[in-house]
Amino acid sequence: MALECGIAAHLVCERTLPAKTPADYHPPFPAYVARFPADLKNLVMAVMGAQHNNGKPTELNIARSKLTSFLDKGPVHCRPEYQQPSSLTDSSGAFNEVVVAYWRSKAHYTEWSAKSGFDHWWQGLDPQKEDHGWFLEVFFPRVDRFETVFSNSMVPEGAAHMRECVSGEIHEHVYWGSMRDRLPIAQTDTIEGVKADFEGGHEDSTKKRIRVPGRRNLTVIRSGQDWSNTTPVERKLYLETMHPVLIRGMDFLRDHGDEVGCISCRFMDVLDSQGGSGTEKTFGLAYFDDLSSLEGWSKHHQTHLDIFGGFLKYASKLQGDVSLRLFHEVLVLEADQQYLEYVGCHNKTGMLAAQ
Ligand code: HEM
Repeated sequence: MALECGIAAHLVCERTLPAKTPADYHPPFPAYVARFPADLKNLVMAVMGAQHNNGKPTELNIARSKLTSFLDKGPVHCRPEYQQPSSLTDSSGAFNEVVVAYWRSKAHYTEWSAKSGFDHWWQGLDPQKEDHGWFLEVFFPRVDRFETVFSNSMVPEGAAHMRECVSGEIHEHVYWGSMRDRLPIAQTDTIEGVKADFEGGHEDSTKKRIRVPGRRNLTVIRSGQDWSNTTPVERKLYLETMHPVLIRGMDFLRDHGDEVGCISCRFMDVLDSQGGSGTEKTFGLAYFDDLSSLEGWSKHHQTHLDIFGGFLKYASKLQGDVSLRLFHEVLVLEADQQYLEYVGCHNKTGMLAAQ
C-alpha cells in the first residue's frame, strides 16, 4: 500500500532542510494524521485550570464546573469544538482540575472569551481573595506549527475533532526525527528555542497574578494513552508493563525536567463527564524550551527509551494486534502565540517554573 506524506498537500513546500526519513523506509506499524481543512489557518488549544494548594477539595469539580460553565456560554458558533476534563495531583501536593479546550481559530476563541463572560470573570479574579489558584495557558499555533499523529484512524483526539478527514497510513513515523518531519514549518525553519533558566520561579506566587511572557519556539506536547478498548489480556499487559514505565518517564520530566529542557510536565487522568476518574485514559502534557530538547529526551533518555522499547515488545507479544490507542499533538509556538497567566498558583505551576 502506498504511504501518505505526514504533511498535508497544501502545506508542503520545497524543503531547505532535508527530512530524516531513512532510504527505502517502511514503518513497522501504521500511524495516521488528521487532515485539517485548507481554510483552517490557526487553531487554539487552551489549558484552563483550578489549583487546590491544600490537596483534594472535599467538594470536587466545583471549580472545574465554573470553567466549563463558560465553555457552554456565548454564541454557539464560537464555542470550543472539543473539550476534555482531567485532573492531577502535582509534585507540590496541589490537586489540579483542568479542562483542555480547542477552537478552530484565534478569532473564535477571542469572540467566545468576550461574549461568554469568561474574559470579564478572569480579569476580575483577585488572587488575594480567591481561596484557590487559577491558571490559563492558551496556545494559538499557526497550522504549520502543529502536528498530530495517531495509532488508530477511527477515534479522533484533541484538535483532530476539527479535522476534515484522517489520512491513510503515513510514512514519517517510528524513526527519530519523524516528529520534526511531520511539522510543516520544519521544512524550512530550524525552529530553535531559547534555553530555559530554571534558577528563577522561586518567589512565593500564591497571592499574585502573574503573566508569563511567551518564549520563542516554546514546544508543547500532549501525548495520550487510551486502554479502554483493550481485551482483558491486553489491558493486563498494558497496566503491568507499559503504564509503570510511562509513569517513571513522566515523574522524571516533572521532577528533573531541568536536566533536559522540560519546563513543566503534568501526567493527567482524563475524567468522565461527571468528573469521575475511571476512564482508562491518561495524557502527558509537557512544555519544553526547544523542540530539540523534546527530541533529545525521547531519543536519548532511558525513561522514554524504556517506554519506546517497552512498546515494541508489547506490540510483538500481541503479534501486532494492539487495541491500545496512542496519539500525540505537538505545537511549536512563537512568543505572541502564547497567553500564560497564573492567579494565586504555587511557583512550580506550568510556565512559572522558568520565568
Ligand atoms: C515517539 C511510544 C509516551 C514523546 C514515539 C514512538 C513510539 C513511542 C513507538 C515512535 C513513533 C513515531 O514517531 O511515530 C510511546 C508510548 C508511550 C509514549 C507507547 C506511552 C505509553 C510519550 C510521552 C511523550 C512522548 C508521554 C512526551 C511527553 C515522544 C516524542 C516522540 C515519540 C517526542 C517523537 C520522537 C521523534 O520523532 O524524534 N513514542 N511514547 N512519548 N514519543 Fe513516545
